[in-house]
Parts: sequence; C-alpha cells; structure tokens
Amino acid sequence: MTVHFIGAGPGAPDLLTLRGRDLIAACPVCLYAGSLVPEAVLSHCPEGARIVNTAAMDLDAIIAEIRSAHDAGQDVARLHSGDLSVWSAMGEQLRRLRAEGIPFSVTPGVPSFSAAAAALGAELTLPGLAQSVVLTRTPGRASSMPEGETLRNFAATGATLAIHLSIQNLGQVVTDLAPAYGDDCPVAVVFRASWPDEQIIRATLSTIEGTLPDGITRTALILVGPALGAEGFDESCLYSTDYDRRYRPQSADSQWATWSHGDD
Ligand SMILES: C[S@@+](CC[C@H](N)C(=O)[O-])C[C@H]1O[C@@H](n2cnc3c(N)ncnc32)[C@H](O)[C@@H]1O
Repeated sequence: MTVHFIGAGPGAPDLLTLRGRDLIAACPVCLYAGSLVPEAVLSHCPEGARIVNTAAMDLDAIIAEIRSAHDAGQDVARLHSGDLSVWSAMGEQLRRLRAEGIPFSVTPGVPSFSAAAAALGAELTLPGLAQSVVLTRTPGRASSMPEGETLRNFAATGATLAIHLSIQNLGQVVTDLAPAYGDDCPVAVVFRASWPDEQIIRATLSTIEGTLPDGITRTALILVGPALGAEGFDESCLYSTDYDRRYRPQSADSQWATWSHGDD
C-alpha cells in the first residue's frame, strides 16, 4: 500500500500530469484539499472510490483516514493544488507517515505561478531585467514569516516576485515594494489562473489597489517586477546568430567544433 501525493495543478483538470492522472485512476481512496482542488479533477477517480474532501479536517483526522486505508491495503491518492513543493502541508503529513512506516510517493504538479505566467503570456526571467523568481507570501493569521523573509528584503534584489496567499494584504505589499521597485513598476494579479473564471489585472504598483475589482479576495497571485510586460529587454545569447556554443559551433576553430552530443 502506498500514499501517492499528487500535485493537482492550478485548477484546469487537464493541467495534471499523466502520471498524476493515472495514479488517481488506480487508487481506491482519494483525499483531496477541496478548498483549491477543483471537483473536475476527481473525475479521474475509479468507480466506487472513497473520495474525501479534507478541507475541514485536522491533521490527526487526515492521518487516521490514511491509516485506515493502509490497514485495508488500499492505495491512496492525496491531492493538493499546484505543486507539492510549496504551501501544500505535505511536509507534516510525510513526517507522520515516516514515523508510522507508511510508504509514500510524490508526483509533482503545475504550480500556480507557472499557470499565472502562462495566462499573462510572460517569461518571468528576461535578460538584463530579472534572472530570479522569488516565490513568497506575506504573513497570514495562521502563518508568521521567518525573520529575514520580508518583502522589503526580497525587493532589494529586484527579482520578479510571485506573491502567494496575499491578495488580502495588497495594500501592505504595495507599501513594502514601492520604495525599491518604484511606483511605475508593473504588477499583475492573476485570479484563478486556468479556471473558467480566470481574471487578469495589469497595473503598476501605484495603480493596482484602485484597479483590482471587488470580489478578488483569494486564489490570486500577485506578480511584481520589471520583467512583467517589458518589451525593452536584451535578446538572449542562446539564439543569437554569432554566439559560439556547443550546439551551434561558429567556426572550425570553435572549442565546440569536435564535440558531439554523445560526449555530454
Ligand atoms: C496554499 S497555496 C497553494 C500553492 C500551490 N501549492 C502551488 O503550487 O501554487 C494557495 C495560494 O496559491 C495561489 N494559487 C493557487 N492556485 C491558484 C490559481 N489557480 N490562480 C492564482 N493563484 C493561485 C494563491 O496565491 C493562493 O492563495
């Protein structure tokens, strides 16, 4: 028996990996975080599967569900939104499973920041503008931030920021970022990326608060940084006509001239 942790993606049921879909289809038990995982993803569950929404359960109750499937020899599909490596609460579940000797696997999913970037048609790293993406959040009622992980500190890098779980703190986000990024810095809010009611709001740090429609109070990402919507960036060397590189040596004297794909 195995508990398969599966990243269920940002919302669209077809933004699920083939491995994730096949595992869901093979498991007689499915536990899903119903606050963000859309019911459409559950259509992959086999007929007669036990399907449990864990949104209102505590950790002990979730582990009790898993333990009872384990005792019955039944595999479990455990679904969390997006990818499991960020804000999925997988870590604490894995710690319990390791302590109880219950086997598990982890299948990645499409994270919401990727889905938001896709909705915007944006590359978050552009030559000369931003070469790092910071996945972060602001403090919430249930989660404080470790000292040092402040928006002001991240802002000092100038990187593209993908700010999760923070749409309700938009005013503070603007206050913290404006000194480093400037009032004109582009901002995009993507509400429910990949859902049928997806919304995209583009603005600047000085205008985003006045532009955000009422009702966008959760399931939204705030993306901030000079790379968003920029057109005045350098082209990458990778595809530049005269750039000498392994896959495109420019002359017989190139260090790559005698390299073949089998060498690497
Ligand atoms: C508990 S975290 C889950 C993050 C998830 N594990 C991931 O990989 O994106 C929930 C936050 O992720 C963001 N989020 C999740 N799904 C989203 C979506 N479809 N569109 C926009 N933001 C989303 C929002 O900021 C939301 O508050």
